[in-house]
Amino acid sequence: MKDQIEVTKQYVQSLLLNERTGHDWYHIERVTKLAHYIAEREGANLFIVKMAALLHDLADDKVAADEESGLKQVVDWLKSQEIPFEDQQKILSIITTISFKGGNGSPVESLEAKVVQDADRLDALGAIGIARTFVYAGAKGDPMYDPTIDVRDKMTKEEYRHGKSSAIHHFYEKLLKLRGLMNTKTGKQLANERHEQLKQFLKTFFQEWDVKF
Ligand code: ADP
Ligand code: NI
Repeated sequence: MKDQIEVTKQYVQSLLLNERTGHDWYHIERVTKLAHYIAEREGANLFIVKMAALLHDLADDKVAADEESGLKQVVDWLKSQEIPFEDQQKILSIITTISFKGGNGSPVESLEAKVVQDADRLDALGAIGIARTFVYAGAKGDPMYDPTIDVRDKMTKEEYRHGKSSAIHHFYEKLLKLRGLMNTKTGKQLANERHEQLKQFLKTFFQEWDVKF
């Protein structure tokens, strides 16, 4: 069991080493550690949680050529590792349901899915979350802030991915909503501190934006 996790770690690391959209190997490593911590406290199955955390971004449409081929890659990997069919299904169902997608993702069901989703969301909060947002916006060609763009409340997945936005807009369109969407008690506790970091950052950002003496 330990070996399958170790080999999967190396596989994912080799695939994501040059990723530049905020889904690099270190994101996966942090999410896997956070998921492990939450899983222990919530009594979730550690093997399923760690495997899903390690593989969770490979089928993301920002990382893979498309979701379908990304998912096939994960399926092939799980088969090659001789993971029991039932576990394969559990891991795949987590990977396909946890993404935010502008608030349009389907609700997650299993405890293990809730844990991995919380861990992924925590990495979008706090100082790391702030840094990832600016890296992502830069890679997408979005400005750090544009006061002429409206903040979108409801949006389709397509609008979320390709509409006009800015890094600061992303705080209002997603990041500040995450604390209220956490699934587990442990996840909520960890989100509180990171949420405060976002608010503090925005406060200082706007103070400096409106230069006043
Ligand atoms: P999703 O939840 O939609 O799958 P991800 O979590 O995969 O998005 O996004 C990766 C990182 O980039 C996260 O930290 C996320 O908050 C950030 N991000 C996603 N979309 C944007 C955007 N339009 N502008 C700035 N940052 C973004
Ligand atoms: Ni992720």
